[in-house]
Amino acid sequence: MFFRSRIAYASSPCLIVLALVLVSGLALTGCKPLPPSKPAAEFTPDEARGAQVFHAYCARCHYPTTTRGLKGPGLQALTKLKEMPSGTPPTDERIMQTIRHGHGMMQPVPVEDEDMQYLLAYLHTL
Ligand code: HEC
Repeated sequence: MFFRSRIAYASSPCLIVLALVLVSGLALTGCKPLPPSKPAAEFTPDEARGAQVFHAYCARCHYPTTTRGLKGPGLQALTKLKEMPSGTPPTDERIMQTIRHGHGMMQPVPVEDEDMQYLLAYLHTL
């Protein structure tokens, strides 16, 4: 009996419409999937150099292509989000400050000025 009524529940057109409205409502309120990262095959030379800088300095603590945490938060879509995990906006200045001076549990990371520009170019592809 219980099983039959569950099937009736799931196939009711009204409920399906309701579910669609709920899903589109969530999308409008910002609960949507993250924008995709740029594929490595399309990187400019600067972005490709930035990826190397990332692997040298950041990859042991951060995943670049997911928001799942390693030692620090995953950085997927970092620069496309309204705010970083700490709540501050992901401007180049804030990101550089985080790297140069550290932030909370993250120690300062000594990235040279030139490498920093490549790194930022790469972070914008995430
Ligand atoms: C030894 C581990 C480690 C390394 C290396 C490291 N990070 Fe982090 N990072 C962390 C941790 C831990 C946090 C979380 C800090 C907190 O909120 O207390 C963090 C946080 C961040 C944040 C979020 C800041 C915020 O305001 O929410 C960014 C962006 C970031 N790291 C970028 C980088 C970049 C880029 C590099 C490479 C230059 C890097 N990190 C290298 C551990 C690391």
